[in-house]
Amino acid sequence: MNASRIAGTGSYLPSRILNNFDLEKLVDTSNDWILERTGIAQRHVAAPDEATSDLALKAAQKALEAAGILPKQLDAIIFATVTPDQVMPSAACCLQAKLGCLPILAFDLSAACSGFIYGMSLAHSLIQTGQAKHVLVVGAEVLSRIVNYKDRETCVLFGDGAGAVIMSQAPEDSKSKCLSFHNYANGLLGEQLTLLGGGSKVPFSQDVLTSGLHLIQMKGREIFKSAVRALTDSCLAAMTHNHLQPQDVDWFIPHQANIRIIQAVGDHLRFPAEKTILTLKDTGNTSSASIPIALDLSLRQGRIKPGDTLLFATFGAGLTYASCLLRI
Ligand code: ACO
Repeated sequence: MNASRIAGTGSYLPSRILNNFDLEKLVDTSNDWILERTGIAQRHVAAPDEATSDLALKAAQKALEAAGILPKQLDAIIFATVTPDQVMPSAACCLQAKLGCLPILAFDLSAACSGFIYGMSLAHSLIQTGQAKHVLVVGAEVLSRIVNYKDRETCVLFGDGAGAVIMSQAPEDSKSKCLSFHNYANGLLGEQLTLLGGGSKVPFSQDVLTSGLHLIQMKGREIFKSAVRALTDSCLAAMTHNHLQPQDVDWFIPHQANIRIIQAVGDHLRFPAEKTILTLKDTGNTSSASIPIALDLSLRQGRIKPGDTLLFATFGAGLTYASCLLRI
């Protein structure tokens, strides 16, 4: 079986910023409350003419450049998103057209915030089995289009952005490689985070629009508890599988949803705070884009160095959750 590795990363955050003081003007909230209860100070918001595949294109171009790979060398595009440009064609196909690469496998993956790790896991399998040498895995979201800016519990959390990695076949003696993936879902907890309107069960209608069913609905307290459990379990699964202890992990990159969730998981696992990568203060929760953005920014800042052991862990609507252990 072939090994896989991350050969390059890229990210993109739209230039417009919505900070906590802007939100104070929209809903009954305060900068202090948001900072203390979530750890978020600002989030980026896409311009009206920016669609999810536009954000993804900018992240993908940087990842291709970092990997030294041309678009025509890609064998597959896996695009994790819950905010595709439209239902069809897929965001992956839109991105493929923009990149101008050959007719290759390209599809969207719907697993909410876990989509990026699910996507990496599938790319790993394609590489392991010799079906691909280079796979572009993107997590990109324009969540501002599905956030209810009248709901103070959700509108303070989410932001827009894109992150991308090139997963490539690793040479046999490569130290840089993906070590494990653990992917899970528990559909019984699906009602904790939903967007119900506009699908086959509740087709789009004036009623959907009036009742706001085309926007995110969340049971914050319940998902908080589920998230802590899911992240802890998936991290433990990864470390047990690889016979590693928390002190063997150089950097923990959790899904950037809420600082208190991340701290609770860090406490359970005894990860020192200084080994945890945090970007949520500046980005908010960007769903599938959160881990690849955090990875790319820390690599480019020189915090994460080649040879470091990284643990990714995420949770999202579904509920889905997943972890990945790798050496970069
Ligand atoms: N500003 C001021 N007050 C607020 C706000 C706000 N933005 N939001 C909620 N409150 C109020 C509530 O109404 C409540 O008031 P009450 O006591 O009078 O009823 C009070 O604050 C406490 O509410 P809690 O729900 O207990 O607040 P909590 O500290 O749990 O924070 C939050 C709420 C931030 C939503 C938290 O539960 C959370 O982060 N949950 C997880 C959310 C998450 O991660 N979602 C995404 C996961 S999946 C994905 O990433 C797509």
